[in-house]
Amino acid sequence: MAKITIQTLREKKARKEPMTFLTGYDYPFALLEQKAGIDVILVGDSIGMVVYGYNSTLPVTMDLMMPHVKAVRLGAPDAYLVGDMPYMSYQVSKSEAIRNAGRFMAEGECDAVKLEGGREVAETIRAMADATIPVMAHMGLTPQSVAQLGGYKAQGRDLATAKKLIEDADILQEAGASSLLLEAVPAEVAAIITQRSRVPVFGIGAGPHVDGQVLVIHDMLGMFDRGTAKFVKKYRLIGQQILEALAEFKEDVTAKRFPAKEHCYPMPEDVAAELKK
Ligand code: KIV
Ligand code: NA
Repeated sequence: MAKITIQTLREKKARKEPMTFLTGYDYPFALLEQKAGIDVILVGDSIGMVVYGYNSTLPVTMDLMMPHVKAVRLGAPDAYLVGDMPYMSYQVSKSEAIRNAGRFMAEGECDAVKLEGGREVAETIRAMADATIPVMAHMGLTPQSVAQLGGYKAQGRDLATAKKLIEDADILQEAGASSLLLEAVPAEVAAIITQRSRVPVFGIGAGPHVDGQVLVIHDMLGMFDRGTAKFVKKYRLIGQQILEALAEFKEDVTAKRFPAKEHCYPMPEDVAAELKK
């Protein structure tokens, strides 16, 4: 596989070739995603929920993210790697946003960073783009604003908010966003945004008309059951398979079936006999 760059993504959009985009948090999963030829890997702040067990993404920090980004890059050298800006890593000031995004780019070897928001983050995106940082703008359901939104629910379902999303997409592109990600919006809204956008538009719960489909890997593998959203398709029930393996291990050990002879290190019989004396 050749290295996927923003140019690759633009070409796939132009050819209307649907792109694949998953989250990834560690080396073994990144290896598999690279092997499968997944175009975009996001080290998402969803790591706080699916890997660290928090109730929201808000407790995630830059220091928590950095080792995961490095591990994913080692496993997936060719993917378009996106570092997800944690809560309060870009909201306080443009200089903090640039400094934190710069860590993802320089130390983490990311291809871009992602941050959440509409027109209110336009000037931050402009400052970051001016500082050479490619930014993916995450719009619609923005989980870091859950306290303001009043829960994890679909956005842009009435005329006013749908129009506002479409305008925000224009504003953020004009500010320099190099790609967009739409979460939990009606397919009709996502179709209009995708059609009028010059930059690649990715969607999670945004219907079939976007340029690429995003899922959280733990959700699509059936490894995370707490509050699975409507838009998740579970391709496997890996969590169930792991549970079955653990139960078998427990049964084997309890019944003294494990370890068997083939799992033990042999010793020459004479040495063993001498040792017993
Ligand atoms: O953190 C994350 O996994 C995300 C995806 C839902 C796009 O932001
Ligand atoms: Na996120």
